[in-house]
Amino acid sequence: MERENTGDVLILAIESSCDETAASVVKNGREALSNIIFSQIDLHTRFGGVVPEIASRKHIEKINPVIEEALAQAGTALEDLTAIAVTCGPGLVGPLLVGVSAAKAISFATGKPLIGVHHISGHISANYIEHPDLQPPFICLVVSGGHSHLVKVKDYGVYEILGRTRDDAAGEAFDKVARAIGLGYPGGPKIDQLSREGNPDAIPFPRAKIAENAYDFSFSGLKSAVLNYLNGCRMKGEEISQADVAASFQKAVIDVLVEHSLHAVEQCGWNRFAIAGGVAANSSLRRAFAGECEKRRIAFYCPSPVYCTDNAAMIGAAAYYEYQKGVRHGLDLNAAPGLQLS
Ligand code: KG4
Ligand code: ZN
Repeated sequence: MERENTGDVLILAIESSCDETAASVVKNGREALSNIIFSQIDLHTRFGGVVPEIASRKHIEKINPVIEEALAQAGTALEDLTAIAVTCGPGLVGPLLVGVSAAKAISFATGKPLIGVHHISGHISANYIEHPDLQPPFICLVVSGGHSHLVKVKDYGVYEILGRTRDDAAGEAFDKVARAIGLGYPGGPKIDQLSREGNPDAIPFPRAKIAENAYDFSFSGLKSAVLNYLNGCRMKGEEISQADVAASFQKAVIDVLVEHSLHAVEQCGWNRFAIAGGVAANSSLRRAFAGECEKRRIAFYCPSPVYCTDNAAMIGAAAYYEYQKGVRHGLDLNAAPGLQLS
């Protein structure tokens, strides 16, 4: 059934940059009418990480059914759409190409405008979906499997990167430490859960500071400290408490993220702070930020966990503001695996 023409901006958004095939219909940048996510996690678990070729093949298989389901759940026909949006980078080139090709095909067939979206801009914009009051400017911490960025959101889609990781992304550190303590892939949710049974102060893991930029992060030293600790215990024949290691590691990551982020908020003078990306689904991290922001009277925003990890609704939210600015891409839009935010 076709919708009445209400003047609403309805965007079909597609996301396939890593191991989630996702599609969503987003109304006026703020309301997800559907949010369909096919996660390939089970497929990659036995390899201990995402295998790009396998991911690409699965995206090809799933992209059309996922798009059809997103349209059906939203009660939207292709004719009702205002535009088609897709993540064009950064990410894995094969997986990105599947989404970009699908979006181009739909745009060509329907004559609707095409909008390529930066994946990180999508993560940040996930905050607009459930917080109608949130408007730029604000500071956003983006922590995912591939990125750890502290970003000034100056306006919709206008960013300045204050700090970034010098080595591993926060999610990458979670995944590597989880593997080292035998929890398997993906590590973030497993460490989150196991930490609830552990003592976060049991092991004094290091909190890295970068002399040249107070807003940059480094997690590889922490990862090495965990590996050294585990090796030391094994050599001495000491029992390892997985829960204590998980909780102490997680606390070390959170302490650094909180300290750097809130320093940026205070220096900047904006009283609004948001988190985004897969690691923002972490329950202790959300609690820590909520508590610290309340103490300092900073308005704190975080997406529901389902909008933290990869999804297409966030791409639709970001695309709405690009659409309003007049951004349109041609059918020469390409996957850009190394696309920079600004
Ligand atoms: O944003 P995302 O889905 O994909 C990327 O853009 O990278 O983030 C995935 C990352 C993985 O490293 C995963 O372990 C981590 O987010 N993650 C978590 C949690 N849920 C997912 N890390 C910590 N705690 C969680 N609850
Ligand atoms: Zn992501």
